Amino acid sequence: MVDYALETFDLTKIFESREDGVRRVVRAVDHVNIRVRRGEFFGLLGPNGAGKTTLIKMLCTIILPTEGTAKVNGYDIIHEPIKVRSSIGWFHGETGGRSLYWRLNAEDNLRFYAYLQNVSRDVAEKRIDALLEFFDLSRERKKLVKDYSTGMKVRVMLARALLHNPPILLMDEPTIGLDTVSAVETRNLLKALNRELGKTIIFTSHNMFEVEQLCERIAIMKSGRVVVDAAPSILRDMLRDIRAVEVEVRSVDNLSELIDMLSNLSIVRKVVDVKNDPIAVTVRLQVDDEYEAIPLIADRLHRLGVKVSSIRRSEPTLEDVFVRLARGESA
Ligand SMILES: Nc1ncnc2c1ncn2[C@@H]1O[C@H](COP(=O)(O)OP(=O)(O)OP(=O)(O)O)[C@@H](O)[C@H]1O
Ligand SMILES: [Mg+2]
Repeated sequence: MVDYALETFDLTKIFESREDGVRRVVRAVDHVNIRVRRGEFFGLLGPNGAGKTTLIKMLCTIILPTEGTAKVNGYDIIHEPIKVRSSIGWFHGETGGRSLYWRLNAEDNLRFYAYLQNVSRDVAEKRIDALLEFFDLSRERKKLVKDYSTGMKVRVMLARALLHNPPILLMDEPTIGLDTVSAVETRNLLKALNRELGKTIIFTSHNMFEVEQLCERIAIMKSGRVVVDAAPSILRDMLRDIRAVEVEVRSVDNLSELIDMLSNLSIVRKVVDVKNDPIAVTVRLQVDDEYEAIPLIADRLHRLGVKVSSIRRSEPTLEDVFVRLARGESA
């Protein structure tokens, strides 16, 4: 029998709320069954509202499932929450540095959290030294966190998640809001935690390329469901023949006429996304051949009298994969 770091069994969370007397039911996580092997680097991808954070929160025992359950490090999230919590390190990128005490230095922040997690003083001091070293913060350990860069704050927060030496790390969008350099640095640290320290990492993101770069396996969520669970190479194959073009025009009077015209061009397979901002409209299209599509689209838009800011080929995105999945094309 394989010993999994994480196994979910029809894990489901339904939120019910009332807005202006109208009952709203959201299936945030809908019968999810995933398994993650020990030592695996597992990525959970999905657009806004797909259910990633809700899933992670259930695994962290912050919220209870409506239905189903999961085992984390072999412990049941409903019946053994304390054992689950001591098995995991949790990191939520969106809170940024806010969950640190800005008027304390790095080592005092870590001491404080070690105390909250009941790590004994001797063990805590050794671990804090090792973690500050691992995250390259030893020299700045006495500096107040308020004077740290965003990247350094993220490193302290990652160290904080590791104080009780958990085998499993649940990372909810660890690179969100980071500049490119800090994002690369954070990705490298996650890689090292996985490869050098053998941590199982479960990691959420919007960014397909980030996940592809790091993960051995990727699950894509949409509307609470896992729609793909595959190795990156399989996902790459799905993307290989996607050709996409992005058209940006100055705001138009008749947007639906523009979209109709583009959809009806024989070279256009699908209008994937339309962003209608006050100063510009951006339309994303899947096409048969981007080099043929670009001059043709430019010509048609010119004839319609539309002011074009740019037409360029674009890398495939998650949206393209979703459109493809929604059309029932095979992986
Ligand atoms: N406490 C709550 N009460 C009601 N609805 C909620 C609650 N938390 C989340 N939701 C809803 O559940 C769905 C899933 O949200 P969730 O935050 O898990 O998505 P996500 O994949 O993490 O999105 P994002 O990429 O924006 O972080 C959304 O429709 C959201 O509005
Ligand atoms: Mg989220």
